[in-house]
Amino acid sequence: MDQPATRTAPSRFFCDYLVIGSGVAGLVAALKAAPHGKVVVVTKRQVDECNTRYAQGGIACVTAEPDTFDAHVADTLNAGAGLCHLDIVHDIIRGGPERIRDLQEWGVHFTRRGELEDNVGAQHAQDFDLGREGGHTQRRVLHAGDVTGEEVERALIERCRADSRIQILENHLAVDLISTRHAHWEGENYCLGAYVMDRATHRISTLISRFTFLTTGGAGKVYLYTSNPDVASGDGVAMAYRAHAEIRNMEFIQFHPTCLYHPRAKSFLISEAVRGEGATLKIRRHNDYVEFMQDYHEMGALAPRDIVARAIDQELKRTGQPCVFLDIRHRSEKFLRKRFPKIFAKCLEFGIHMGRDLIPVVPAAHYCCGGVGTDVNGATTVTNLYAIGEVGCTGLHGANRLASNSLLEALVVAHNAVEHSRRNGGGEPPISPDLIPDWSSGDAKDSDEQIVIFHNWDEIRRFMWDYVGIHRTTKRLERAKNRIRLLRKEIEKYYWDFIVTPDLIELRNLASVAEMIIDCAMARKESRGLHFNADFPEAEKGSAGKDSVLRRPTKAEIWLE
Ligand code: SIN
Repeated sequence: MDQPATRTAPSRFFCDYLVIGSGVAGLVAALKAAPHGKVVVVTKRQVDECNTRYAQGGIACVTAEPDTFDAHVADTLNAGAGLCHLDIVHDIIRGGPERIRDLQEWGVHFTRRGELEDNVGAQHAQDFDLGREGGHTQRRVLHAGDVTGEEVERALIERCRADSRIQILENHLAVDLISTRHAHWEGENYCLGAYVMDRATHRISTLISRFTFLTTGGAGKVYLYTSNPDVASGDGVAMAYRAHAEIRNMEFIQFHPTCLYHPRAKSFLISEAVRGEGATLKIRRHNDYVEFMQDYHEMGALAPRDIVARAIDQELKRTGQPCVFLDIRHRSEKFLRKRFPKIFAKCLEFGIHMGRDLIPVVPAAHYCCGGVGTDVNGATTVTNLYAIGEVGCTGLHGANRLASNSLLEALVVAHNAVEHSRRNGGGEPPISPDLIPDWSSGDAKDSDEQIVIFHNWDEIRRFMWDYVGIHRTTKRLERAKNRIRLLRKEIEKYYWDFIVTPDLIELRNLASVAEMIIDCAMARKESRGLHFNADFPEAEKGSAGKDSVLRRPTKAEIWLE
């Protein structure tokens, strides 16, 4: 439980690269930027507490025949339901193999076939073991068992800690970006750094940077049930919006079809790779368990994720059952323990033996396909501000991300962003950083009603789940909009009246992101990819390629209206 802020004097300091967030996008950007200047990484909690750490599946990348770049592109476009940006898809997929070599050089170990198969033969023992997930027509997912994210984080953190040019500030939370627009400069909008709070002292420092990399990950905590850790409160998207960056496609929230259904499992993910190794999806009918996915798609349980999550939702609503089941009992215990050590152990904790029992699962919010609009270099519409990884929206994922394309995107865009900043960095901002004021609490008082924060936090997550989830209707969206409007007003007033705390900062961001999701969902009068509205059940002809776009108006624009 966070304590109210103290009034310690703020400090200010300068760096070349400010990286906000410490998942794969942030740490790769830090390592790539380090030879070119001083890097500061700020991260809300411990350095390894981020979405990356929980990534089980792996990294989709073309590494061996019979796979081809064209096949990976085709699968990505097919999952993306007409909204992927073709040039970006090509660039990111083709950029993959080099970035995998970077990871290997930094010490990441990917599982080899010889580690899993007994009779693989010496000439193939060293080949990558390639997993398969929903929407992929080939095995192409590099993995480290089922703890790929943990392995990647381990190696990157070790590298960053060993590099004296990189300073990592743990337990530091970005409060807001600093932009020339904040200073009411109406010309080109430059990012100049961020205000950052030390969670221990609540002191807010001014970090001035030449380049700012937003790598804050996703916003799963907007929903009641999510596979994401507590840090995923949408901070980056909310801050970028306040700094007048363009935001895209927030209606496309990906629900992972298979999270463990158990009161104490906190939506623990059961990787899609389990289906890639042959698991089927079953629902209880009388005293029997029957497969249902072939009624929905010819790829069955390995259909693209939006289709599987919607099918499960439909089956649960139709039958009134609380969960469906994964069945992988045909694989040997030996194989399952080696291929899925973490999932196997977690299931056992709850009395479920993967090799003998059905695994109860339900969908949960998992990934935000929209975000801060960028090009393939992560460059946003704010000069010197980059958004990389889940916080960004390059156009790779379109209306539905292909499984395991996210770590690939983070790796390629992090590399590109550093190269872009070196070659095309937006130069000197039009106002001197000396003119940036330090954070001031003004007349704000210590909060007298912390309960408001917890109540609003819960209320948002619950109505987002009920009204803005897998199955949407116009009426539900309108209900959600009415509620978020009131809550946002209350939260903004609270924010300006009282001294800010980490909980309040996160709540404000969460509410802001919830409203963006609702606004984009209301604006899209069709069903496409992850966005399904029963009042517009078909994709609109001719709307392929039309992104949803949000941008906070400037003071001058509001005045002109
Ligand atoms: C999974 O392992 O099922 C998740 C992978 C992903 O979200 O890309």
